[in-house]
Amino acid sequence: MAGIFGCLSCPAGVTMQLAVLAALLMIRAAAGSKTQVISYYLQQEFGTNELQMTAAARPALEGTLSGFGQSVVYEFVMTETADPASAVMGYVRGTAVAVNNTAAATVFMVNNVVHYDYKGVQGTLSQQGEAVFTSPWEFVVFGGTGAFRHAHGYNLGSPVSISRTPSNLTHIVTHYDAHIRLGKSF
Ligand SMILES: *[C@@H]1O[C@H](CO)[C@@H](O)[C@H](O)[C@H]1NC(C)=O
Ligand SMILES: *[C@@H]1O[C@H](CO)[C@@H](O)[C@H](O)[C@H]1NC(C)=O
Repeated sequence: MAGIFGCLSCPAGVTMQLAVLAALLMIRAAAGSKTQVISYYLQQEFGTNELQMTAAARPALEGTLSGFGQSVVYEFVMTETADPASAVMGYVRGTAVAVNNTAAATVFMVNNVVHYDYKGVQGTLSQQGEAVFTSPWEFVVFGGTGAFRHAHGYNLGSPVSISRTPSNLTHIVTHYDAHIRLGKSF
């Protein structure tokens, strides 16, 4: 019996239990210690894949674009590089609400699901956080499905570019590095 964990001289139950516990902890540590970084770009276009759901509850202050309470729903396209024509890796779907609007900054409350489907890897990441989109921002990744089941970690976002489309819509490109571990928490 004791041989299954290589404990050849286990004399009694206590030592056996410790050997089993040590083996379980090693398995858990191995499962939880591998950090993966998932990098992608997002292509967002207000009026195309991002629409207003609720108008601002309080008008935008002078010099800012979104008033307190304005909320949007979106389905951004996830791409391999900053080029909108590069390979599609999936979609990011969710909402954002302006939860603080001052002359200095507008803070958005973000809730979304990253739908990853690329090179045979399929799964989702659920993430949430507050962000001011003019500076690097961070979301917490609190779960996942499919290839990312039991994921937890953080996702760092940064601005890449803002341009005008031929039909004069605002096209915004952002970059993300999601740092995740796939560790069972139960
Ligand atoms: C937003 O943040 C500023 C600065 O922290 C604060 O003065 C203001 O009361 C906050 N609330 C709203 C609703 O903008
Ligand atoms: C494009 O849209 C912006 C913002 O709505 C506006 O200020 C600008 O005049 C528009 N340009 C053209 C060529 O329509």
